[in-house]
Amino acid sequence: MHIFAQGYILMKKKLYIETYGCQMNVADSEVIFSILGKDGYERTTNMDEADVILANTCSVRDNAEQRIWGRLEVFCKQKEARPNVAVGIVGCMAERLKDKLIETGKVDIVAGPDTYRSLPEMLRNLAPERPQINVLLSKEENYSEIIPVRTDKNGVSAFVTIMRGCNNVCSYCVVPYTRGAERSRDPETILEEVSDVVGKGYKEVTLLGQNVDSYHWKNADKDVDFPDLLEMVAMLNPSLRVRFATNHPKDISDKLIEAMARHRNICHHIHLPVQSGSNRLLEKMRRRYTREWYMERVRKIREVMPDCGLTTDVIAGFCSETEEDHQQTLSIFREAGFDYAYMFQYSERPGTLAARNYPDDVPPEIKTRRLNEIIELQGQLSLESNRRDVGKTFEVLVEGPSKRNQDELCGRTGSDKMCVFPGLGHSAGDFVNVQITSCTSATLIGKIV
Ligand code: SAH
Ligand code: SF4
Ligand code: F3S
Repeated sequence: MHIFAQGYILMKKKLYIETYGCQMNVADSEVIFSILGKDGYERTTNMDEADVILANTCSVRDNAEQRIWGRLEVFCKQKEARPNVAVGIVGCMAERLKDKLIETGKVDIVAGPDTYRSLPEMLRNLAPERPQINVLLSKEENYSEIIPVRTDKNGVSAFVTIMRGCNNVCSYCVVPYTRGAERSRDPETILEEVSDVVGKGYKEVTLLGQNVDSYHWKNADKDVDFPDLLEMVAMLNPSLRVRFATNHPKDISDKLIEAMARHRNICHHIHLPVQSGSNRLLEKMRRRYTREWYMERVRKIREVMPDCGLTTDVIAGFCSETEEDHQQTLSIFREAGFDYAYMFQYSERPGTLAARNYPDDVPPEIKTRRLNEIIELQGQLSLESNRRDVGKTFEVLVEGPSKRNQDELCGRTGSDKMCVFPGLGHSAGDFVNVQITSCTSATLIGKIV
């Protein structure tokens, strides 16, 4: 039995976390399970039995935050039924809204992304009428030596954070404010974590950072950039699949592209967010590349790795976007022929450069119409891309039964396309060669050969 300050007596300390936002948050929730695990908490996936309910949140767009407000009502119902339950908002929304969350009277714990080591203490100090908040951003915190508790379902694919924060200040983006300054993690600790993952039987790691191309670790005896790190990870174990995200078009180097081509176990997939096809808007977004630069990088990638999957992010309806700008976005999509895209409407985030300097002046119905046009075009491009793969054979890492049809398996190609196929005695974690026989715009369909 563990006794918190009066009023919070927990028989069994069960911790439930809901994770929203990007893969970095998934990795952070695993760090939180590890930190609180050492303090006696047990992970649960059943909110009804949780003593502590945390939401690891995202602020990147307003609808991400609205979703959390909705969840908070659900958590409050748990508190009504079981008054000793503690409810916490952690992550980017905690960092952005700070004590405004406490002022709602619905939240006991508010913890920013760099404060997770203080969660045990915050929970100990918690008492009725004494909510706990810590939103300090750090220049150093990397949770370096903490081995995360893996929470994925199938034990096949793990995330490893290699850096935190972002120094880029794209004008629309809240991430630099919620995650703070960029810092890279000691490559030794990254390699240790990857070894741990391999030891636990994982077959794939994804190295994570907001802009992995600016990874840089330098001390008296080491000077390691991202291509160096990637090769070190790839060479640790040639049968481990290695992925990474996200790259920034202004920074992605020939050295990286060539390193990817050199190692069989580095997946040929690059997520290269374009955001817009209009040079005028790219400038206004402070992306610091042009459309021509972006397309030159795409050509370089395809020249070195013709089989490389290329995916992107795009924002429709950024401040002052004209029909002409929008047409430029559609045309760069056609020119680049993306395999897949994450497509968003611009959502003004308070405090960002864009919110301070440019009116959010594209009417919502026009944003929606332009977004729908991009979605429709990308649907065709994905279908064309998948059709080009029919007849080819790919190495696929089995993730488990297909969601649609439990008799079939699913898994991804190196280029990051989802494949479904009859299983024939295989299971999660196996590498199989799959010949593609047909496709939809979302999935390759094939058979093991
Ligand atoms: N670090 C990554 C992206 C992080 S956020 C990068 O630089 O590419 C993920 C995506 O959310 C962004 O690529 C962008 O497309 C989108 N996004 C960020 N801020 C947004 C906003 N204010 N409105 C709409 N989409 C946004
Ligand atoms: Fe945001 Fe730009 Fe940093 Fe990506 S690179 S996280 S879009 S500021
Ligand atoms: Fe969202 Fe924070 Fe990730 S704002 S996208 S959870 S870094």
